[in-house]
Order: sequence, then structure tokens, then C-alpha cells
Amino acid sequence: MNILIIGSGGREHAFAWKIKQSPLCNSLFIAPGNTGTALFGTNLSIAIADFENLAAAALENKIDLILVGPEEPLVKGITDFFKNNELTKHIQIIGPSKQAAKLEGSKAFAKDFMTRHKIPTAKYKEFTINDFDAGIKYLDEHIYPVVLKADGLAAGKGVIICNTVLEARAEFELMLVRSKFGEAGKKVVVEDFLEGIELSVFVLTDGVDYVLLPEAKDYKKIGKGDTGLNTGGMGAVSPVPILTEELKQKIINQIVEPTINGLQKDALNYKGFVFIGLMINKNEPMVIEYNCRMGDPETEVVLPRLKNDMVELLVATSNKTLKKQIIETDVRSAVAIVAVSGGYPGDFKKNIIINGLDSYHLPDSFLFHAGTLQKENEIVTNGGRVLVAVSFGENIKEAAEHSDYLLQQIRFEDMLYRDDIGFEFV
Ligand code: AMP
Ligand code: GLY
Repeated sequence: MNILIIGSGGREHAFAWKIKQSPLCNSLFIAPGNTGTALFGTNLSIAIADFENLAAAALENKIDLILVGPEEPLVKGITDFFKNNELTKHIQIIGPSKQAAKLEGSKAFAKDFMTRHKIPTAKYKEFTINDFDAGIKYLDEHIYPVVLKADGLAAGKGVIICNTVLEARAEFELMLVRSKFGEAGKKVVVEDFLEGIELSVFVLTDGVDYVLLPEAKDYKKIGKGDTGLNTGGMGAVSPVPILTEELKQKIINQIVEPTINGLQKDALNYKGFVFIGLMINKNEPMVIEYNCRMGDPETEVVLPRLKNDMVELLVATSNKTLKKQIIETDVRSAVAIVAVSGGYPGDFKKNIIINGLDSYHLPDSFLFHAGTLQKENEIVTNGGRVLVAVSFGENIKEAAEHSDYLLQQIRFEDMLYRDDIGFEFV
């Protein structure tokens, strides 16, 4: 079959690499893709939310299946767009409907979903400008820290952890009165702060049944030892040593199954990945957030560990036959380390030449491209997160050392990466 992947990050390079291994994949296209995805298929220069042109390209290239990588097209309704169009409705599309994608697109929607389906999550209240005074009173009486969340998508910046009431009042006003996050912040979720260890689980569902993919832990902070500003993710590990069989069963019983059953009860049309961000405290899991897609850089450690044929899984998702699929996992550890442009997550330069990409690579290491661009004979930087080195090892320490070694071969001006990914497990 002919397959189209939508997106252009390390996640999409990892998907392209994995999908191209399947004997079921004939031609592979990626829109818009990056230098890495071009090694496995044809990049199409179409923006991720340009539905009209994506549909035209899908028809022209006789696409049978579309995998949507990032959240933006899903939250904007790409699945409904294809399904509601006579010419494109035959195309299998992996990604939830617009209404179901609200699990990521609206924090208030997700909190309401979890409350109604009795899925453990932090206590919360939502406010708009109309109940501003009630919100201030709520903040005044709250225990600190407290977490303020812009309801809508805010490019990963909409969550603010406030340590004092002064800070919380200021942020609350910035969001509701001064439109700090535009439309996304017109509603604010105020949530209890959860302590513990974060863990991400990944579920692939056909709307009725599901399979659990390998879990991962993401390292969001820019600095060593989890310090400094939040980023899209500076690295990831899989498996995560805190996930015992007992905890896994609890997560399945208390969170995964109620989530899938909840989708059905609410008649939410969902064929795709559910990324569940958890906080584990004293062996008790609580949901921090849902995402309606795979994580980045989590995908880059999850897919190498997944032994199944990816296309077979995606087709089973589309055909509602996931029940018959059994997930097989590589027992080794995988560690991803992200090389970023100097200045990220703030301002950074682009178009910087990357050297060393053809250096000797270890046999169980991969280099996924995130923000890269082919310019004549050079590959240059084209984003904050530039490259993702992923390696297998007998344990996290060994895998991390191999990924670090891989990045030591690569150079670009002001390149930066964390050499302590997985530090708490070594
Ligand atoms: P999100 O944008 O929902 O992924 O949140 C970003 C990050 O904020 C999460 O990965 C957590 O590290 C942190 N966070 C969000 N909600 C809470 C919470 N209730 N308690 C503690 N940390 C949180
Ligand atoms: N790495 C976090 C995310 O993909 O949302």
C-alpha cells in the first residue's frame, strides 16, 4: 500500500524508518518531512494543516493510508475533512476525529472526560473572564504550588507552575485579561500540583480494542539534572525502570481501560495513538494529560523497541482488528538524546551547516533528523531540535553512552545536548 506520513520532526523520521521496513509498504510519502525522512520516501512540500493540498496529493499519489504525526492537524479536524469528502473517504486515516482530539486540544474537555469516567487526575476548577473574581478567590485559598493551564494548544508553553499566590494571580490575569496565549488562554484550568515521577504510556486503539506500546520517560528541561526552561523534549528512555508489572496492571485497570471505554461511551470516534502522561506517586498513577498522537522524542525510543510490523498495526487499527495483535518488544534499553540549536527553547539561529553526519555509527544506534534541511550539498539546521541520537544498550547507562558517542561525532555551531539523559536510573 501507499502511505503518507504528516509531519516533519524526529517522530516522523522514526515512523518513516519503521514503516519502510514493512513488506506491506509500497510507496512512502512524507508531508513536509525533513532530510531524514527523504532517506525512506518522497517528501511533499505541503504544510501539515493545508488539508486541501494534502487531499490533492493523497489522490494524486494513490495513498491508501495516512498517519498523522503532530496534534495540530488532528485538533483542526483533518480526519473529519478526509472522511467527509467523497473523493478521500476511502483513505484509511490514523488519528482521532476533531471532537476526540479535544482530549489534547482542550484541557477542560480532558479534565471533564476524566472526572466523568472516574480516571484518577489532579483536582481542578476551570475559569473564564466571566468568573475572574471567583478564580482569584480560588487561587488565594489554594495550597502552593498550583498549576495554571491554558485550555487550548499553546505550543507546549501553556502550563505554568506557580509557587506563590502573587505569581499565580499575575499569570491568571495575563492569561484571562491580557490574552497571553490568545484564544487558547481564554479558559484557564487551575489544578492541584502533583508530586512524583513522570511516565508516559502509549496506547494504540481502534476505538474498541487497544494495544499497549512500550512506555517511555521524557526529559523536558533544557539543563542537566532537569533544570532550566521547559522544551519539547531533550531526550527519552524506554523501558522506564519504575514501571513494575504491578504498577502496569494498575495503570491498565485504572486508566487505560476506563479511557478506551470512555471514548466508546461518549461516542468519540478514535482510531489512533493515545499518549497518556502520568505522574506516579507512591506507586499510584494519576493522569497529567492526554495527547492524541505519539510523543517526540518518545517515539524515537518506542519504535526501535517495537518488534511488530508497524503497517500491520496501523491497518488493524483502521479495520478494528487490533484485538488480534500481540505486541512484541525488544527487552533492551533505548535512550534518545536530542541535539538542539544554541538558544533553544528561546531564539536560535537556523541554516547552520551540520558536520559529521556520515561518521562511523555504532551498529545499534540511529540518528533521526528533527530540524534539518538539505541545502545544495550541505545539510543545515532548520529548527530548535535538530537531531536525535538513539541507541540500544543492555541497560540505560550503556544505551546513553552510545547515543552520547554518536553525538560526539557531530558538530554544528552552538550545538547543545544533555549528556545526562536517564541519569536517575544509572
Ligand atoms: P503539559 O503541557 O500538560 O504536558 O504539561 C507540561 C508539564 O507540566 C508536564 O509534563 C509536567 O511536568 C508539568 N505538569 C502539568 N500538570 C502538572 C501537575 N498537575 N502537577 C505537577 N506537574 C504538572
Ligand atoms: N515530548 C512531549 C510531547 O511530545 O508532547
